[in-house]
Amino acid sequence: MLNQTELYYFSPTGGTKKAGRIFCDGIAKEIKEINLGKKVKETSQPESDLIVVAAPVFAGRIPEITTEKLKKMEGKGKKAVTLAVYGNRAYEDALLELNQTLEGQGFQIVASAALVAQHSMAPEVGQGRPDEMDKKSILDFSRRVLEKVETGTHDIIKVPGNYPYKEGMDMRVTPLSLPACSQCGICEKICPTDAIHIENGAVVTSPEKCILCMACTSACPEHARILPPPLQEKMEQKLGALKNIRRENEFFL
Ligand SMILES: Cc1cc2nc3c(=O)[nH]c(=O)nc-3n(C[C@H](O)[C@H](O)[C@H](O)COP(=O)(O)O)c2cc1C
Repeated sequence: MLNQTELYYFSPTGGTKKAGRIFCDGIAKEIKEINLGKKVKETSQPESDLIVVAAPVFAGRIPEITTEKLKKMEGKGKKAVTLAVYGNRAYEDALLELNQTLEGQGFQIVASAALVAQHSMAPEVGQGRPDEMDKKSILDFSRRVLEKVETGTHDIIKVPGNYPYKEGMDMRVTPLSLPACSQCGICEKICPTDAIHIENGAVVTSPEKCILCMACTSACPEHARILPPPLQEKMEQKLGALKNIRRENEFFL
């Protein structure tokens, strides 16, 4: 076991953090969590010899706000394990993008994984994941990563994906607030891109800033923050067939 590691994560609805935490619990006694979804512009610099970076997959890519934060980090040859967490559809170029970003910052990628979590836009897809079976496979991966680190093996990691990466998402649609909204301000506070403001007794969302990450819909205590019903229906139609399909985690080391 390592004495300590740092888990850098962006996890609007909790799945990425959950998967990242399972992995970290398998490799280190002490885990410092750094939430890349906070509104602060700075990113704290890594202290541990090996850090873990976990990011969700949005449209087969890493969300731009995460990449921007990672580009402020200085690797200085430190080791990193990367985890791209996706909603049981596909991770496409996301893991490659995550690795190339961190390599560009001077990190040495020792292992990577594409892990499945519940789809944050269509919760019946990948429902309940990561589950007990995932936990077992992630912990087995963590043991293999520890072995690799301890024996000092330097195999180069090759992950799927293409460069130039596929086009990211640019939907200009935002979640909306239902009349049940009590204007408690939680959505405004939690929004990682500062897209939400309560103005003159109404919740106003900027389509230019919103990345549809679902942090607000997931955090709303009244369940009054939802995707516009036509978009919700479209997502369910697009992803419905994946309800009965189980994609397995993939590990690279
Ligand atoms: C805007 C958006 C785009 C997404 N794109 C994909 C995708 O391309 N492939 C996929 O399998 N899951 C996709 N998902 C699902 C998320 O990757 C998955 O639910 C992830 O666990 C979300 O992380 P979180 O629980 O930490 O918020 C998408 C989710 C959102 C909100």
